[in-house]
Amino acid sequence: MSFSFPKLESIPEKFRILPIHQKRFLLDGELKVWEGKMEKVLSPIHLEENGKLTQVLLGSYPSFDERQAMAALESCLNAYRQGSGDWPQSTTEQRIGAIERFTELMMGKKEEIIKLLMWEIGKTHADSIKEFERTVEYIRDTIDALREMEAASSQFVYEKGIVAQIKRAPYGVVLCMGPFNYPLNETFCTLIPALAMGNTVLFKPAKFGVLLLEPLLECFQQAFPKGVINTLYGDGATVVSPIMESGKIDVFAFIGSSTTANLISKKHPKLNRLRSVLGLNAKNPAILLEDCDIDASIKEIVSGSLSYNGQRCTALKIIFVPESKAEEFTSKYLKVLSEWKSGMPWEKDVLLTPLPEEGKTKWLSELLQDATDKGAKIINANGGEVTESFMSPAVLFPVSKDSRIYKEEQFGPIVPIVPYKSIEETLDYVRISDMGQQASLFGKDPVILGKLVDLLVNQVARVNLNAQCQRGPDRFPFTGRKDSADGTLSVTDALRVFSIRSLVAAKEEEGSKEILRSILKTKSSRFLNTDSLP
Ligand code: G3H
Repeated sequence: MSFSFPKLESIPEKFRILPIHQKRFLLDGELKVWEGKMEKVLSPIHLEENGKLTQVLLGSYPSFDERQAMAALESCLNAYRQGSGDWPQSTTEQRIGAIERFTELMMGKKEEIIKLLMWEIGKTHADSIKEFERTVEYIRDTIDALREMEAASSQFVYEKGIVAQIKRAPYGVVLCMGPFNYPLNETFCTLIPALAMGNTVLFKPAKFGVLLLEPLLECFQQAFPKGVINTLYGDGATVVSPIMESGKIDVFAFIGSSTTANLISKKHPKLNRLRSVLGLNAKNPAILLEDCDIDASIKEIVSGSLSYNGQRCTALKIIFVPESKAEEFTSKYLKVLSEWKSGMPWEKDVLLTPLPEEGKTKWLSELLQDATDKGAKIINANGGEVTESFMSPAVLFPVSKDSRIYKEEQFGPIVPIVPYKSIEETLDYVRISDMGQQASLFGKDPVILGKLVDLLVNQVARVNLNAQCQRGPDRFPFTGRKDSADGTLSVTDALRVFSIRSLVAAKEEEGSKEILRSILKTKSSRFLNTDSLP
């Protein structure tokens, strides 16, 4: 069935939206009004009127110039004040108090944010709710982990005649940039731990999903002290370049493409000062084995490859099937896919929606053309059909090794299936890939699976057995090898990557111990204390 965009009157009242022209930005603890150039926000959703499709204008947001960008950096630097600012000098409990206040205020914005997630990035209603709730849970888990970390590091350590208290201290100013596919969740997975450890944050929203953060500006303002978080808007080359060139950023937290990450990092003049926390490209393979139970796995594989239209860094972006199983697999894949409903994000049971990136359907069509020129066929009805920003998923089979889709990350609704003769072909794929995030194995034989696990764990950062690739649960480490990541994120790892271990050490002699006791007793130090011991 071909895809169609709705008429305005067919949209339920509670999901309709009016344009938001966001002029506010957060600088130095104040919500200021921007009077300069604005950036237009278009929705991936079009509306039909008299047989004509018009892309919905959602509003606009500030497009800073260099001067404004530097003012935001200055505010972060002042609040950090070389580590002597109120925020880096505050206690863990004081910072937790601010984060809890923020979370409480954020809860009041839930409906607004969910609606904007649907309109700005085309995420389904169910997945938008999930993204919001997962983010709140992540913040709460971060607070618990921080308390545990603080309690564990309150103990004194005795080693070779030295007594020390080893804790974690902030780095300084963090530039935080999230991705458009999880503009709330993945941004907050770096922003919150960065703040929790006492850093100040310069926050630039992703290229899509900017307006949905506007309701949170006043929450940041009310919960955090002046200058601890400043917002940055506009064209990356204009606003991010001068900030990095200043050499004053201590941590670069970025989720997006490795090309952009490299361009930005390279601008920093002091590369040893700059810490990077990066979540980058991935081309995770699903490898089906000869004894794979296709019936049991097929729904998982379809969902792994196409949920949120394949726009997840963890999506299964290439599927390897033994030649002997190819026919059974492809026909079962198409059967499940035929039950997937496309439509508007607010419609019940819809799973496939329009894509937010401008020009994306054209680029994906070029990938399809290249693959079909090299021998693959689009094997599903309507596969690859484009209606403005919507592309009907295209299942490609048999994909050849010399096609672009074999190597390039599609980040969209194309499912390349590669038949293989020998398992070595799939291992070679993983070995020569520039990316190394995760892989999924589907099979039963424990001996074969065990051997493959041993080979794959040295090539990727997570091997999933009879399950799709994914980031969660958020307490698990999330990282990648090669060009897929720098640093590890998880609720606890994120607290570590935004802080450095720092210690106070003294000779284990009565005189020194007495000084340590007195500091603890008089509570003259925030760092050197045992307050969080149970
Ligand atoms: O886009 C990359 C995300 O980290 C994927 O997270 O596996 O929970 O969808 P997810």
